[in-house]
Amino acid sequence: MDSITQTAEASGAKQPRRFVKIVAGTAALAGLLFGFDTGVISGAILFIKGAFGLSPFAEEVLVSAALVGAVCGSILSGRFTDLLGRKRAILITAVIFTVGSILCAVAGNIEVLILGRLAVGVAIGVASYTAPLYIGEMAPPKLRGALVTLNQLAITSGILLAYVVDAAFAPSDGWRLMFAFGALPAIVLGIGIAALPESPRWLLLHQRKDEGIKVLTRIRGSQNVMPEVNDILEHAEPGSGKLADLFSPIVLPVLFCGVALAVIQQITGINTVIYYAPTIFQAAGFRSAESSIIATAGVGLVNVLMTVVSIPLIDRVGRRPLLLISLTGMGVSLAALGLGFAIGGETSKWIGVLSLAVYIGSFAIGLGPVFWLLISEIFPLNVRGQAASVATMANWLSNFVVSLTFLSLLNALGSVRTFILYAVLCAVGIWFCLRFVPETKGVPLEWIERDLRARRPLRKLGAG
Ligand code: BGC
Repeated sequence: MDSITQTAEASGAKQPRRFVKIVAGTAALAGLLFGFDTGVISGAILFIKGAFGLSPFAEEVLVSAALVGAVCGSILSGRFTDLLGRKRAILITAVIFTVGSILCAVAGNIEVLILGRLAVGVAIGVASYTAPLYIGEMAPPKLRGALVTLNQLAITSGILLAYVVDAAFAPSDGWRLMFAFGALPAIVLGIGIAALPESPRWLLLHQRKDEGIKVLTRIRGSQNVMPEVNDILEHAEPGSGKLADLFSPIVLPVLFCGVALAVIQQITGINTVIYYAPTIFQAAGFRSAESSIIATAGVGLVNVLMTVVSIPLIDRVGRRPLLLISLTGMGVSLAALGLGFAIGGETSKWIGVLSLAVYIGSFAIGLGPVFWLLISEIFPLNVRGQAASVATMANWLSNFVVSLTFLSLLNALGSVRTFILYAVLCAVGIWFCLRFVPETKGVPLEWIERDLRARRPLRKLGAG
């Protein structure tokens, strides 16, 4: 046993699992901020409209500012995540989240408010892939799925928290406090992540072997980590991972897979429900404001609960089966929703509620967490940050396009055809997953990289 291993053991790595859970829990605060800051605007906008006398165009710009920021943040930060490290990238996002939230809270005019939301959006864009990446690189293979899924649980809890905070401050027109609230988890994230170590995989790739071994020993406990260290060093391609590497024949197929999954996660309509649930419920026949608020909170709750259900399943059942079950449930419930609208009347109301519950539950159990998990797993180490950032950018861009076109689509095609269209896209998603998505359950990240270099087909990566 070498001295580093001894030191780490002596320094008390008795509960490595507990430590990894603390690491995952802290990094997942980034997910909470992602959820909170995308959700909070829906309640705040009602008061801001009056406060600043916004035109419909200014309102649209304000609502979409965070999405635009997220697109820019994700694509511009990819290289930095590989150069600076995962920990530093998350630390920077915590600072931007804090500054952006405060800026929104104190904004004296619409321009400053838009600037604040753009900044928050940039932080969301960076955090959305760096947090899963960091957790995935720290976690042992058998727990990786569950631990990375904590991030999705935090996203869904953040969305729910935003609804609650909006409801709590609404009676006093407190839109500034709604935004200010977001600074709290951001500060905790910053302090927490500063106290945690850098990802051992990143350290090893950047010639900081001793530190890498020390961290790995701490998170794996007393076991000899040298085989894992050698595995990482042997399979990782050294070098800075230039932009051109993304388009190498080794990386391109997995990049295609990540980007396609990103698009599928969005074009199957999740955010039409998350952002427009009240509109859908109203179209289905619920007229009162109360009933649409209750229905929206219900959507948020089902989302959180079913993500909890997915956590123990993801490392047991595996990523592919969950994706397939998820997309099937989503497709069937969307078709039912479309049918419900076709029938109309009282029945249509209840078909609407039931279909949306099944739809959200199906998303939460598979496509929601599995996309973010897979993009933290499938890319080679030397370009992992950049490749994940491209997939993340594709996700935010598709989110932006779907959110922007949903209402026009409803107007142009009508409810029935719109939801049937989303159902058809779920079927396309099922075909894609069957044909291209690998099963990464329990597989060390280095095996996936080894198979990539051996040019095995996507479906067979990590299959042994
Ligand atoms: C998606 C978001 C979505 C959220 C809902 C995430 O995985 O990327 O677009 O709003 O899930 O829970």
